[in-house]
Amino acid sequence: MEKIGKNGKPLRHLMTPLDMSVEELEELFDLAEKIKNDPDGYAHICDRKKLATCFYEPSTRTRLSFETAMLDLGGKVIGFSDASSSSASKGESVSDTIRVISCFADICAMRHPKEGAPMVAAGRSTIPVINAGDGGHQHPTQTLTDMLTIRSLKGSLDGFTIGLCGDLKFGRTVHSLVNAMLRYPANKYVFISPEELKIPSYLRAKLIEMKVDFKEVERLEDVLPSLDLLYMTRVQRERFFNEEDYVRLKDFYVLNKKKLELAPKDMLVLHPLPRVNEISVEVDDDPRAVYFKQVQYGVYVRQALIVTLLGLV
Ligand code: NCD
Repeated sequence: MEKIGKNGKPLRHLMTPLDMSVEELEELFDLAEKIKNDPDGYAHICDRKKLATCFYEPSTRTRLSFETAMLDLGGKVIGFSDASSSSASKGESVSDTIRVISCFADICAMRHPKEGAPMVAAGRSTIPVINAGDGGHQHPTQTLTDMLTIRSLKGSLDGFTIGLCGDLKFGRTVHSLVNAMLRYPANKYVFISPEELKIPSYLRAKLIEMKVDFKEVERLEDVLPSLDLLYMTRVQRERFFNEEDYVRLKDFYVLNKKKLELAPKDMLVLHPLPRVNEISVEVDDDPRAVYFKQVQYGVYVRQALIVTLLGLV
């Protein structure tokens, strides 16, 4: 049975990009484009609404992106930015926290180091909960950001050879993005990583089962000429068990100007940020480097998501 939220409308959450159908995603991206082109038209749509950002794990971009999105829609923002400043430090469960937050706010964005924590919260919530990143698992709003960037700059989401490079084991943005892009059947994937940081076996099994065209390689230079999109990621230090392994792997890939000469002139370089060393700053001025544009698209898509989940369109 459909659950009704505290605003009297059907209650919807976003835990993974797959919670939205391809048609719903198209509508969301169209709305994000409308907001981008007519910010004034949406400047008061969330008047008197509140977003709670519950962040149990560090973040700058994602939290501030959510907050900017809500403020630009006329809404207000409450929340906490690390677990130590919330009641979690006193032992409160996410289920209890969300019940309390449901009394204060109209919608919640939650980041948590434990896989599945936002899902547990959603089960208890009377307001929409958005997974803002759960452990090494999923990061759906980064995926929506990546997809809107690709769709806006390339005109489509299908028919590309997509290279994903770096920490494919722990990088939740990679897991989320691949899962979402698999619904566009003409895409091909090239996974570029050292042996230790290959994609998780569940993802490989899914690709094989779906008969997706993919390969796993170690050398970026070899595959660069064949790519339409290159998604770079940092090595996820916080998810390593020992510092030695991190130090050995952290500079495995460094995309610089010279390497980029091997890539097609219209390839896009994306990165969820934060960047460490995996892209040299000299690449930033190349027109193919779109990671800072991506940040701006992230605000539009979060605006569209907030408006949609609140049932305001
Ligand atoms: C990503 C994340 O948190 O997973 N960052 C982000 O949200 N933009 C990527 C990362 O931390 O490497």
